[in-house]
Amino acid sequence: MIELHLGDITELATDAIVNAANARMLGGGGVDGAIHRAAGAALLEACRALPEVEPNVRCPPGQARLLPGGNLKARHVIATVGPVWKGGTCGEDETLAQCYRSCLQLAEEHRLESIAFPAISTGAYGFPIERAARIALREIRAHLHKADFPSLVVCVLFNKADHDVYRAILEE
Ligand code: APR
Repeated sequence: MIELHLGDITELATDAIVNAANARMLGGGGVDGAIHRAAGAALLEACRALPEVEPNVRCPPGQARLLPGGNLKARHVIATVGPVWKGGTCGEDETLAQCYRSCLQLAEEHRLESIAFPAISTGAYGFPIERAARIALREIRAHLHKADFPSLVVCVLFNKADHDVYRAILEE
C-alpha cells in the first residue's frame, strides 16, 4: 500500500526511513541534516564505517546502504544517493529510479514491513518534483506488485505543494 504524509520524515515510526544523502555519506543539509540530527552519533559512526568504493564515495548514485536508526523511531535508515539534475539528458531519470529500486530491494532483503521515502533529489539536487514523483510512484507500485516486503510505503512530503503533486499523480 502507498500512503502520502505531509511532514518531517524523522518523526515516522516505519521500520526504515530513507535518507537522500550524498556520496560521501557524512551528512549534509536538507533531509540528510534532519535525519543525522535526529538519529545522533550512532548513524554517523555507521556511515563512517562504510567502506569507500572510491575516494570520498561510500555510496554511488543510485545505490543504497542499510544503516541503524540510532535515536530515531525508525529502526533503520536506508541511505541512498540521488542524481543531481543536469537538465534530464544525463541519465538522471534512470539513476533516480535505481535509488527507489535499491532501497526497496534492501527493505525486501531484510523483510522490513514499512519504509518511508522523502522526495529524493528534488531539493538541493534540483530534480523537478512532478517528474521525480512519477518515477518514484512508478517504481514503488512495480515493487509492491511483485514483492511481499515492504507492505507499506509512505511517501513523505515536506510541503503542501509537493504533497499535492504526489496526490494528483496517485489519483490519475
Ligand atoms: N522530512 C521530509 N522531507 C524533507 C525534510 C524532512 N525533514 N527536509 C527536507 N525534505 C525534503 C525536501 O523538501 C525535498 O523535497 O526532501 C526532499 C529532498 O531534498 P534534499 O534534502 O535537499 O535532498 P536532495 O535534493 O536529494 O539533495 C541531496 O543535499 O542535504 C544535502 O547531503 C545532502 O548532498 C546531499 C543533497
